[in-house]
Amino acid sequence: MPGPLIYGEKMEIVHYGNPVLREKAEEVPSNMDLNSFIDEMFDLMYKSAGIGLAAPQVGESLRFFITDFDGQSPMVFINPRIIERKGEKTAMDEGCLSFPGLGGQVIRPSQVIVEAENRERRPFKLEASELLAKVIQHEYDHINGVLFIDRLETEEKEEIKSELKALATRTRKSL
Ligand code: CO
Repeated sequence: MPGPLIYGEKMEIVHYGNPVLREKAEEVPSNMDLNSFIDEMFDLMYKSAGIGLAAPQVGESLRFFITDFDGQSPMVFINPRIIERKGEKTAMDEGCLSFPGLGGQVIRPSQVIVEAENRERRPFKLEASELLAKVIQHEYDHINGVLFIDRLETEEKEEIKSELKALATRTRKSL
């Protein structure tokens, strides 16, 4: 079972090289109150100009993430399950707050159906397309320890290889 979430500590984005990003995160227990933690995550995501943020990216290996793909559609996905991926597979230039300054083209299906709980812990089902579908898949990967660099074409990954290595080294030194 995950330990209690500690509030009041300064929440920070975890960078590539921190092993928490590679863990398969645990289900959020039904009695765990995430409200203030989620508020803090939204503050941090907006401050960082991100459109999605998963719990492992702030050091909590738990299965939830937040998104706001257009700055006015905040959404919370707790214990999500992507039940269907469909539509045309399209390429999109993806970045990640855990990889400052880095990015690359990732090919993913353009539509998903996802089931999750919202911040009030009520179950919902959502069919998403375009940017929201991409963000959901990117964040869902995070809670399974999968990162966008795992989905880059070999050549693209080769291009940023030295920067990735440098980032991981910096991160490990700071742990
Ligand atoms: Co990311």
